[in-house]
Amino acid sequence: MSITIKTPAEIEKMRLAGRLAGEVLDYIGPFVKPGVTTEELDRLCHDYMIEVQGCIPAPLHYAPPGYSPYPKSICASVNHQVCHGIPNERPLKKGDIVNLDITTIKESWHGDSSRMFVVGDASIMAKRLVRVTHECLWIGIAQVKPGTRLGNIGAAIQRHAEANGFSVVREFCGHGIGRKFHEEPQVLHYGKGNEGPIMEPGMVFTIEPMINAGKAAISELADGWTIVTRDRSLSAQWEHTITVTADGVEVLTLSADAPANPFPT
Ligand code: MF3
Ligand code: CO
Ligand code: CO
Repeated sequence: MSITIKTPAEIEKMRLAGRLAGEVLDYIGPFVKPGVTTEELDRLCHDYMIEVQGCIPAPLHYAPPGYSPYPKSICASVNHQVCHGIPNERPLKKGDIVNLDITTIKESWHGDSSRMFVVGDASIMAKRLVRVTHECLWIGIAQVKPGTRLGNIGAAIQRHAEANGFSVVREFCGHGIGRKFHEEPQVLHYGKGNEGPIMEPGMVFTIEPMINAGKAAISELADGWTIVTRDRSLSAQWEHTITVTADGVEVLTLSADAPANPFPT
C-alpha cells in the first residue's frame, strides 16, 4: 500500500473525527488531579466517546500484527512511560506527568491526538520537558508544506529536542491515518532534512514526538504494550493529526482547550 490522498469530502469527515479526539482531551483535563487513577480516566473517556460523541475508541481491542489486543480505550503513559501505557488502578500523585492519547473512530474515519498533563505541580525539569516536547510538535507541524519532503519534519524536531539536552525516541513514529488507524507513511521524529516522500495536498498523518529527558533507548514491559525509557528518565509526548493543504498545513485535532501554537506566525 502507498500513501492515500484524501478527497475534500473525506477530509471533512476527518475534521470531525479529529475535533472529537481533541474534545475528549478537553473533557478529561479537569479530572487529571492527584488521587485519580488512569483506569478512572479511561472509563470517563470511554463513556464520553460512546455516549456523548457517538464514536468508537480506536484503541479498544486494537491488535496490530505481533500484539495482543489492547485492553483499554485510551493510552495513559506516566513519567518514564513513553507511550502505550495501559490504564491501571494506581492513583496519580502530585508531580506526575501523564500523556493521554485519544483515538476516535467517527463514521469510519480516525482522529488521533495526545496531550501532556501535569498532576498538581511538577519539577522544573518535568515542566521543561513537557514544554519543549510541545514546541517539538509545533516545529514539526511548521515544516508541513506541499512539495517539500517528509524528512524535514523529523530533522527540525530532532534539532530542537537535542538543542535542549533531550533525546528523540526512534522506535515509534507518526503515521498516515484515515479509514485505518495506522497507514503509510511513517513520520520519523529524527533524521535528515530533504529526505523521504514529497508531501502532497490531501495527505493526512500524525506528528507525535516522544522526547526523553535522558537517553533515547526504550524497553517494552511484560504486558506487551507499555514502553518505558531504558534509563527510567522522564518522557513526554504530544500528538496532532494534520493534513497537507494547497499551501501549507491544517491541524485536524484542534479543539477549544488545545494549547496554542507556541510559535504563531
Ligand atoms: N494512539 C497511538 C498512536 O498515536 C496508538 C495507540 S495503539 C493502542 O499511534 F493500541 F495502544 F492504542
Ligand atoms: Co498516532
Ligand atoms: Co495517538
